[in-house]
Amino acid sequence: MPQGPSSTREIPEAGSIPKHIAIIMDGNGRWAQNRYLPRIAGHKQGVETVRGVIKSCMERNISYLTLFAFSSENWRRPTDEVTSLMQLFLSALEQEITKLHENGIHFKVIGDLSKFESKIIESIQIGEQLTAENTRLTFTIAANYGGRWDIMQAMRKMIVQSTNLPLNFEEENLAQYLSMSYAPEPDLFIRTGGECRVSNFLLWQLAYTELYFTNTLWPDFDEHELELAIQSYQQRERRFGRTSEQIQMGISAKG
Ligand code: IPE
Ligand code: IPE
Ligand code: MG
Repeated sequence: MPQGPSSTREIPEAGSIPKHIAIIMDGNGRWAQNRYLPRIAGHKQGVETVRGVIKSCMERNISYLTLFAFSSENWRRPTDEVTSLMQLFLSALEQEITKLHENGIHFKVIGDLSKFESKIIESIQIGEQLTAENTRLTFTIAANYGGRWDIMQAMRKMIVQSTNLPLNFEEENLAQYLSMSYAPEPDLFIRTGGECRVSNFLLWQLAYTELYFTNTLWPDFDEHELELAIQSYQQRERRFGRTSEQIQMGISAKG
């Protein structure tokens, strides 16, 4: 899978259909609490939303969908909730992998997997291997993921694995070790649930991503909500440091 250009090095092609959508799926707990249900009921409903969003992305020829499922900070939650989330993750993996494969989806997980129980790690490996050749949609789950962790692990790998690394190493030296090096940088970032923050998601890759925040809670995020986010994206002028006049004159000078 080709790595896309770095938005701080080259001006990427920016079409009207985002190639890569990255989403922070937030608001499951509040959705459940609004219904006097336990928080885990919201997480379960959130899995249904994931199914719908995958389908909508395929229909719209989106090439990459990346979902933040569990942050490196989410271990701070009550033990009961963490345990339930792990069970839900495992059962979703066991139930969905075959379906993803049947639909031509390439499945990937990014994050520090070492903290997960072995059953989860095995299911992830099985899923990644089974779907490795698929090209219709690359669907990535970020689990025990943190943007700072990602940059740190990339640094460590770069230092250990490079021979003759120059002291003034470049972006390119590091970028190849980031956990999403197989994908272009996200064009569109969506966060549901009303918070306007990045919460340690893809810190490096979001450099020039268009950000979209909605109050809609993740379990309520449907095809229409996705359409609204894409419509908002289509109204943006992606300048990558240039002026509006340059864009209108069609100047594509590389920066
Ligand atoms: C997002 O929903 C899912 C995870 C972080 C696992 P939340 O559980 O954060 O829902 P709210 O923000 O409490 O409503
Ligand atoms: C962000 O949601 C992480 C995921 C959706 C997995 P949180 O609900 O944990 O974010 P904060 O802590 O409120 O920023
Ligand atoms: Mg939340």
